Amino acid sequence: MKFIHLTDPHLVAPGETLHGIDPLQRLRQCLAHIAANHKDAEFCVITGDLADQGQPEAYRALHDDLVNFPLKTHLLLGNHDHRENFLTAFPNKTRDENRFVQSALRVECGDFLFLDTLDQGQHAGVYCKVRQTWLSRNLAIAKNRDVLLFMHHPPFRIGMPQIDSISLTNPEKFAEIIDSHDRIRHLFFGHLHRPVTGSWRGIPFSTLFGTNHQVALDFDTSDVIPYSLEPPAYSVVLIEPDRTIVHTCYYQDDTAWRPERRPSTPA
Ligand SMILES: [Fe+2]
Repeated sequence: MKFIHLTDPHLVAPGETLHGIDPLQRLRQCLAHIAANHKDAEFCVITGDLADQGQPEAYRALHDDLVNFPLKTHLLLGNHDHRENFLTAFPNKTRDENRFVQSALRVECGDFLFLDTLDQGQHAGVYCKVRQTWLSRNLAIAKNRDVLLFMHHPPFRIGMPQIDSISLTNPEKFAEIIDSHDRIRHLFFGHLHRPVTGSWRGIPFSTLFGTNHQVALDFDTSDVIPYSLEPPAYSVVLIEPDRTIVHTCYYQDDTAWRPERRPSTPA
């Protein structure tokens, strides 16, 4: 199966800019590129920071733009989001019995769990006892099936102090729950605004650039988050029984050699 991962659009009111960029225009360009090239994907996942400051008008704009988007889209919340404003704009989006925006989706290749790590008003994430119960229950339901996890905040440090200070605040308990299931196939998250891959406790993970602004690769600065204007991207994820492949598409770059532009002497 194939699905699309993108993250951190940081939408503001339509017509406004953020760090000199129009986030809505950036997201529209991304969605148009996906619609033109990956209509065969099963769905799209956006791993949080949908709005830059939880603005109702940003969620309304996102809602309106997704109406004609051909893929079903799973939306997660990040530290810049506002849960109730989101739920007002998306009353039909899946939430759990405690109004956390998290859900489980069973497909042939495994169980997809979309988690809510938002601690409203804080930039660091939290996975509270109520949400832990939900996760434990859904991991038990998955039994011996593969599980793919999606969340905004990474549950571990990545070696960049300014970002590590606002990651998940209770990673030990979260890790303990995750350890109870031995078939966590992959962890996808946002928050970093950078392409980072690796493994955590033996679980492969990946994240990528946001669709608006980025975080500079800086291992030293600890008092501010250094932004950058590196190019936005989305991921095309292919899941097969024996492998997980994560491709990166820099959708603003149109320099690919298409067949009609192929050079006479291929490499
Ligand atoms: Fe973000």
